[in-house]
Amino acid sequence: MAFLSDTLSRVKPSPTIAVTTKAAELKAEGRDVIGLGAGEPDFDTPQNIKDAAKAAIDAGKTKYTAVDGIPELKKAICAKFKRDNALDYTPAQVTIGTGGKQVLYNALVATLNAGDEVVIPAPYWVSYPDMVLLAGGEPVIAEATAETAYKLTPEALEAAITPKTKWLIFNSPSNPTGAGYTWDELKALTDVLLRHPHVWVMSDDMYEHLVYDDFKFCTPAEVEPALYERTLTVNGVSKAYAMTGWRIGYAAGPVEIIKAMGKIQSQSTSNPCSVSQWAAVEALNGPQDYIAENNKTFQRRRDLVVEMLNAATGIECPVPEGAFYVYPSIAGCIGKTSAGGAKIVDDEAFATALLEETGVAVVFGAAFGTSPCFRVSYATSDEALREACTRIQKFCAGLS
Ligand SMILES: Cc1ncc(COP(=O)(O)O)c(C=O)c1O
Repeated sequence: MAFLSDTLSRVKPSPTIAVTTKAAELKAEGRDVIGLGAGEPDFDTPQNIKDAAKAAIDAGKTKYTAVDGIPELKKAICAKFKRDNALDYTPAQVTIGTGGKQVLYNALVATLNAGDEVVIPAPYWVSYPDMVLLAGGEPVIAEATAETAYKLTPEALEAAITPKTKWLIFNSPSNPTGAGYTWDELKALTDVLLRHPHVWVMSDDMYEHLVYDDFKFCTPAEVEPALYERTLTVNGVSKAYAMTGWRIGYAAGPVEIIKAMGKIQSQSTSNPCSVSQWAAVEALNGPQDYIAENNKTFQRRRDLVVEMLNAATGIECPVPEGAFYVYPSIAGCIGKTSAGGAKIVDDEAFATALLEETGVAVVFGAAFGTSPCFRVSYATSDEALREACTRIQKFCAGLS
């Protein structure tokens, strides 16, 4: 349609949201659907956080706030960075937005000029390339393979950097693979960045707290203090505190970029929801013990899913360190035909046939830039996961 902008033609809608919507539609039609597409914990927001929000409403904290967040939340965020990441930030170095998504988007809009390149390791979170395109930049995909458990190697990073590179977007633990970088693995990447002083790093630490088997999370500015002045550390309350609907994300970094991000926000959405900000203060300052409790559940589910998927013919599933996703390869299924007569030419065909023939909704790997794979979100009940994996096993057994 001629009326629509050229920018719009550069981006596509989120495929993960599309899968969730499709699964919900089929369910509404009465089909027996198990959705493994959603990127959110199935736990309820903890009671102390809900109570803090109710108290904020009753106290009339329902008006506009400072554009990039209330001082109390900025203070709580600084304390969180010190406590969890040994990073020193002042409130002037912190900005708060409507979810991590808006914060990442603000950062890209505030910094990219036409032709600027952003290195994005694949498999990537679906929104990174499209956000870069919306902001007028060029995504440069640096592929990580199953051989390195989907972690970017220093060689692949080095090869992706050009004089036009502005950012590396780093995400550990990763959506969609769950892969978490150890200190040494991350140090090998930050060593590359030290050799390229024009490249900044945007670290998306959204899944920081969702780690298993004693895995120790680390973030670039912590691993390499020399990068502190060119690192934007992004985080949020959505995943760790089961607060996806509250829409609070934040970032810390050099004051100049933080101010620029606030300027973008001042002319777009203004402050994030006042009540949600007070809830986030409680999330960060209040008890943290339920995170470990939730992680026990997530780890049990991860182990269940990995074991059952590896028992399916043609599927190979690595054991990831964190998040609530697994990212199995279906190389062994490609070229076959399903019991329902679908030709499995690629991972999209696999996911479509799986949904139609078994009612299990997963997101195909091409959406994340690496094929042939699919992503399973195990943020759902053990019972649903067991049933879904049984159906996947049957589906694979029926391929010929
Ligand atoms: C890697 C990653 N970063 C950022 C976000 C955005 O989180 P929020 O809900 O806070 O906008 C998500 C959500 O799915 C994510 O998976």
